[in-house]
Amino acid sequence: MHTIEETLEKDLSRRLDRPLEIGGKTVSSRLWLAPLAGLGHVAYREVLDGYGGCGLMFTEMCGAKSVPTENPRISPVFRWRDEELPRLVCQVAGATPEEMVPAARRVEDCGFFGFDINMGCSVSGIVKKNAGAALLKDPDAALRVVEAVRRAISIPLFVKFRTGWTPDIEPAVRLARRFEDAGVDCLVFHPRVAPDKRTRRPVRGHIKSVAEAVSIPVFGNGDVITSADCLNMLETTGCAGVSIGRMAIARPWLFAEWTSNIAQPETVFRDYAMRMADALDRHFDPVRALKRYKLFTIYFAANFTFGHALQSWFLKAKSMDEIRSVVREHIRPGLQLAKQPNLSLYNI
Ligand SMILES: Cc1cc2nc3c(=O)[nH]c(=O)nc-3n(C[C@H](O)[C@H](O)[C@H](O)COP(=O)(O)O)c2cc1C
Repeated sequence: MHTIEETLEKDLSRRLDRPLEIGGKTVSSRLWLAPLAGLGHVAYREVLDGYGGCGLMFTEMCGAKSVPTENPRISPVFRWRDEELPRLVCQVAGATPEEMVPAARRVEDCGFFGFDINMGCSVSGIVKKNAGAALLKDPDAALRVVEAVRRAISIPLFVKFRTGWTPDIEPAVRLARRFEDAGVDCLVFHPRVAPDKRTRRPVRGHIKSVAEAVSIPVFGNGDVITSADCLNMLETTGCAGVSIGRMAIARPWLFAEWTSNIAQPETVFRDYAMRMADALDRHFDPVRALKRYKLFTIYFAANFTFGHALQSWFLKAKSMDEIRSVVREHIRPGLQLAKQPNLSLYNI
């Protein structure tokens, strides 16, 4: 006799732990890390790799104008470990073929798995430059970028996009078909209208509309918090896999847990908090390491019923050593976990 949870976990790992072919390359699992500015950096990805189970990782958004001349030893975002390149997609935001083609060529030359065009970001700094979700306002401009990039590179090409600027799903469906015709290999779809601060729920049925419209793989994204949410997204939308954002920062071991049923010891939270501190120290200067750790704590602290208090202790720290003292003092096995990470902490 299996419990409901055991049956769910088995169903989920059966769906996720399957290879997928994208643009002639094989990806080992169908649970991926979403691009996360300020959070999905090289240090975080090293920690994530230690837990395993993540099929593809996406970099933080990089600017198209800077990528061609960016020095990976100095850049905080265009930086990687060579061993992660076979599973790492570089996400780039830009407005025109003139900006995007040189960036795409550089990404291919560096050896990334693929190139991802950001058509989802609706923060004003990006939209004002006609990049990110602004491209969804002008489908012909979006297509010109996609077609030019497709001609320029042969590595897998991804587009991450959202519903658009009105709640109607038809424009996104039409665009998805045009992306496929233009040679895009995979779509990652976040069914929310722009601009939206994640206060309204994503419309899961819209993932289904996009997935049914094209024959390339479509990954669903948005508000997947629990394994049951993940299974529900797969079952109800027919998406090829799931892209995880904020929960990947809160609990990076979920990739191993959901794809392979690998359970973690009770010490996992403390261990994770320490690993993050060490990895940030290895990859960044002390000022940037501390800044990035503090950003990480918003998502990490949401795991606990005392999340607000924990976060305020972290925010007072003036050095990475003080961060480690907070971890040693306050994160112990047996701490009260929030039933599910507190989403209100996330809506920044
Ligand atoms: C702090 C933060 C930074 C993000 N940065 C990016 C980004 O650089 N590029 C992008 O396409 N999406 C970005 N997103 C959106 C996420 O990739 C994802 O679509 C969104 O968080 C919904 O997924 P989730 O509910 O699993 O977090 C960001 C989201 C957050 C919360």
